[in-house]
Amino acid sequence: MKSTTRLSSAASRTEPPVISEFMQTALANPGLISLAAGFVDQQSLPHEATARIASEILADPIEGRRALQYGTTIGDVGLRRQIVGLLERNERVESGTFEAILPRVVVTTGSAQLLYLVAEALLDPGDIVLVEAPTYFVFLGVIETRGARAIGIEIDEGGMKLDALEATLADLEAKGELDRVKLIYTVTEHSNPSGISLAEDRRGPLVDLARRWSRNQRIFILEDAAYRGLNFEGDEPTSVWRHDPEGETVIYARTFSKTYSPGMKLGFGVLPADLVTPVVSLKGNHDFGTTNLTQQILARVLADGTYDRHLQNLIGMYRRKRDTILEALEDQFGAFDGSVRWTKPKGGMFVWFAAPEGVDLGVKGPVVSRCLEEGVLYIPGSFAFPDEPGPVPANFARICFGVPSEAELVEGVRRLAAALAECLDPVA
Ligand SMILES: Cc1ncc(COP(=O)(O)O)c(C=O)c1O
Repeated sequence: MKSTTRLSSAASRTEPPVISEFMQTALANPGLISLAAGFVDQQSLPHEATARIASEILADPIEGRRALQYGTTIGDVGLRRQIVGLLERNERVESGTFEAILPRVVVTTGSAQLLYLVAEALLDPGDIVLVEAPTYFVFLGVIETRGARAIGIEIDEGGMKLDALEATLADLEAKGELDRVKLIYTVTEHSNPSGISLAEDRRGPLVDLARRWSRNQRIFILEDAAYRGLNFEGDEPTSVWRHDPEGETVIYARTFSKTYSPGMKLGFGVLPADLVTPVVSLKGNHDFGTTNLTQQILARVLADGTYDRHLQNLIGMYRRKRDTILEALEDQFGAFDGSVRWTKPKGGMFVWFAAPEGVDLGVKGPVVSRCLEEGVLYIPGSFAFPDEPGPVPANFARICFGVPSEAELVEGVRRLAAALAECLDPVA
């Protein structure tokens, strides 16, 4: 008799990653312009500076051996000190202001690991996470694996609407489900997928709101600031995390994947004190500690100014790409007089595109297959909505301007317009 595989309930709940099919299609078709992959610009990756710093470390017998040894689970203290300094520069406060947070800074294998660890530390089956609708779809997968529920909160041009958040909490309270709410998840800067940032005047009130609704247990805010730093216009606002000086409510998640190198896969969290031990213990089960060599390299990249210089170059390059794609969208869709809309991001690498209601941009819809014929790919926006409260709209797309060249962006948008032409009525 053939024996069967009985997967754990967590594995059974976990679907294959939603975008992998799209990635495979893109890779299989070399002529295709991918506005889908959320990768960073290949040409911009800092191989020379990283090679120089890596060889400096490895050429030194003491430093080299130290970097090739296991490190600690919480992360290298030299890197964690550099992170504290980076946060002080980001928040425009004097050096030394954040000294006390050092024990709460945890280095992770990308911010993806931090998001997973937080979910693992807090979520049981049936628990509730309130998310922006649309949100970062990878985190929806994590919530699903934990057996928890994601409920979407409407956004506008200022990000998550606090009145809608409050209304959802009131509704859950009326149903006796408030105690299941563990997290409010928000991608605060130039969000993936919407390109929208949480308005500055919502940041403090969001922390107040989470505190007010933390009745029998704390509702944490998980602030995912993956695109912090990639800001094209003026200063970035104060982070939500900064509005929680006691360090009780906000879990601050950051990554160096977008601002330096995704291949180094380094992220970090600043955690409320109560969560440090559980998250570090769980991380011990995952990997015992993030790769020590890449941490040593990044610590030097931050310390010697390489990081800040690189980021300045990236900002210039992505700003030009942003301008190019917005111009191309205006050229191709401006005639549709508002029935086709798109966000105008001030940073990051995503534009959120809305066709008129009734136009199906979903995986099984006609536009995706027309796009593949034309040679362009986007991510259907439906992936980024949780099932609740539903229904999931089908007329959105995520467009990423990170990977293609400026010429490819123009051509990609032209192909998108060609694929959509049959579905749209230009206004005379
Ligand atoms: C919003 C958001 N959060 C987290 C991540 C995870 O990035 P990493 O694990 O490389 O740090 C990404 C990656 O695309 C992202 O877009």
